[in-house]
Amino acid sequence: MKGRPLLPFAIIAVVGILLMISISIIGLNQRAAMDEEGEGADTEEVVEFDDPVEAGEQIVNQSCIGCHGGDLSGGSGPALTGLEGKYSAEEIADIVQNGKGAMPAMPHDDAEADAIAQYLLSIE
Ligand code: HEC
Repeated sequence: MKGRPLLPFAIIAVVGILLMISISIIGLNQRAAMDEEGEGADTEEVVEFDDPVEAGEQIVNQSCIGCHGGDLSGGSGPALTGLEGKYSAEEIADIVQNGKGAMPAMPHDDAEADAIAQYLLSIE
């Protein structure tokens, strides 16, 4: 008979422990979710193009045809056709970003310069 009043306390204790465990599991889950969000934000900062060749074509048509000709066959600058085998993608990106001889450096970031290079290497 003496032990009886202890039962409710035992139940409260068990419920309390279960509550603490579930709260810490919820906390862990939220932390995992926050970590995932953080990683997602990191990858969003890198601007990559879904289709670099198409993006490169648009940029070239805006920035380059003034000197290299509307069909890229040359103007005040040399033709930009048939660059495959002459320059690598890295070398073209370098020319775009740093200029070459009479050509001024163009204000394009790494992703844009790479897209331009991929487009120029894709045309005949
Ligand atoms: C202000 C005029 C001008 C603009 C704008 C310009 N270029 Fe040029 N580009 C030149 C000239 C001039 C040369 C030749 C430089 C030399 O060899 O002395 C050249 C050379 C190049 C070459 C080397 C070609 C070869 O056969 O050696 C590449 C590649 C090139 N340009 C890409 C681009 C791209 C891509 C753009 C646009 C993002 C661009 N250029 C915009 C004037 C220009």
